[in-house]
Amino acid sequence: EKKKIVDNFGRPHTYLRISLTDRCNLRCFYCMPEDGIQLMEKSNIMSLEEIIELARTFRDLGVDTIRLTGGEPLVRKNFGFLVEELAKLGVTLKITTNGIVLDKYLELFQKIGLKRINLSLDTLDKAKSVFITKRDYFDRIMKNLEMALELDMHIKLNIVLIKGVNDNEINDFIQLTKHKNLTVKFIEFMPFKGNKWDWSKGVSEQEILKIVADKFGKINELENPEHSTSNNFQVEGHVGSFGIVSTITNPFCSECNRIRLTADGKMKNCLFANSETDLLTPFRNGEKMEDIIIKAIKTKKFSRDGMDVKMDAKHYEKNRSMISIGG
Ligand code: GTP
Ligand code: 5AD
Ligand code: SF4
Repeated sequence: EKKKIVDNFGRPHTYLRISLTDRCNLRCFYCMPEDGIQLMEKSNIMSLEEIIELARTFRDLGVDTIRLTGGEPLVRKNFGFLVEELAKLGVTLKITTNGIVLDKYLELFQKIGLKRINLSLDTLDKAKSVFITKRDYFDRIMKNLEMALELDMHIKLNIVLIKGVNDNEINDFIQLTKHKNLTVKFIEFMPFKGNKWDWSKGVSEQEILKIVADKFGKINELENPEHSTSNNFQVEGHVGSFGIVSTITNPFCSECNRIRLTADGKMKNCLFANSETDLLTPFRNGEKMEDIIIKAIKTKKFSRDGMDVKMDAKHYEKNRSMISIGG
């Protein structure tokens, strides 16, 4: 029988998120700590060949979907080569990007059949974008979004909602779905090391649904794809749809099928996991990786690495910052 990655709760893990780098060309405050992070040393980062080989091992263990993340994945040197090689593995490839240099890769994505692009775009207002990201790339990102839509890419916009910052734009994003065939995905603000999380700044799934219903009226619930992080909806008559990732108020952990591989080659069983398993060292030592991976998943806890609804700061401050996990 073929070896598979199954945790102690019987959940098969078929979806791998690979963080290609801990560097980013933006500085979003909810992701990158104010004082920055200690960047990984180059020798500790997986080479492109190492990423490809490890990805192949995961594929052989049943992983059928790989999402590339960062930092910002598109700033990784020789990204084009990497993604072409990964496409040969025959898995569904996806990417989460801030879109700044997306135009450089759209043609390649078309060629290799990478169609699913999640674009982090927290605001439709240029000045606010500068405030959130501390950089001025808004026009470029919007231009690249249009270009991707014209090429029929499947686009989801990722919007981390924060009270007093962008919660007044919920219906502007919904308005986009009226004529554009895209999904806007609202995300409940989550706690990571150094991001000054406080749930009073977060916006819950229930609040979002009320705000949308008050303005647009009838909202239809859509069927959620298997293992979806989001609950999905559509305003009656709109072309596009919207989703809500409610990790705080209504997590999807019971269906979790995700594994993360950080840029420095650590396997992370949960977004909130304090412990990680070093895969890069044994890999470099020529060890057989299958059993190491299968054993590592057995330490996975059922939900949010054991954190309760109060999302204990003692717990998440021991986790890494979002920038080095990749979401
Ligand atoms: P789709 O494959 O399009 O559904 O995307 P995704 O939601 O899986 O990934 P994306 O990179 O777009 O992340 C959107 C939000 O979901 C981010 O805030 C992620 O941190 C969060 N997210 C992604 N994977 C997980 C997960 O395994 N658990 C939790 N709790 N949140 C996740
Ligand atoms: N809470 C929720 N989502 C976050 N992201 C980054 N930091 C947070 C946070 N603190 C999102 C980004 C990106 C995705 C990978 O994770 O917006 O789209
Ligand atoms: Fe999976 Fe952890 Fe996310 Fe829950 S919080 S869905 S267990 S990664």
